[in-house]
Amino acid sequence: MGYCTWDASYNIGIDVIDKQHHRIIDYINELDDAHQAKDKEKVAEVLAHVIDYTHSHFSFEEKLMENAGYPLTEPHKKIHAEFIQRVRDYQAQHEKGHQVTMQLMYELKTWLLNHIKEEDREYAQLVNKTLNPSWLDKTLGRFFHLKPS
Ligand SMILES: [Fe+2]
Ligand SMILES: [Fe+2]
Repeated sequence: MGYCTWDASYNIGIDVIDKQHHRIIDYINELDDAHQAKDKEKVAEVLAHVIDYTHSHFSFEEKLMENAGYPLTEPHKKIHAEFIQRVRDYQAQHEKGHQVTMQLMYELKTWLLNHIKEEDREYAQLVNKTLNPSWLDKTLGRFFHLKPS
């Protein structure tokens, strides 16, 4: 578990989102473990999980922004969609037997950390003002099959 270390500076100040971001980082480390162990099946399995979980996180985050009336929700959604497509392209390459895991981990890590520090941090203040626990409880269950932690 050492490819990418969580740092407090990645927190955007919304607990539920910070936990999800942290979980994605954990998945990237699991991917590294599987890669180091040269376990191709495990790589494929973790890859499927990280894509599924990241997709759930994006959908949840988009709902959160919409609910808060965040004005940059649409461009943010577009950024998410483009990234998911790129990761899916890597997944397809991996399924064809190409060695893409290292490149993919690097992209996941750098893209994600930049995105958290830039675009995600931008919505934090507005979302924090409008967030309420009952909405959160109701909404979380609709998006996640894989638990945040
Ligand atoms: Fe985002
Ligand atoms: Fe995010």
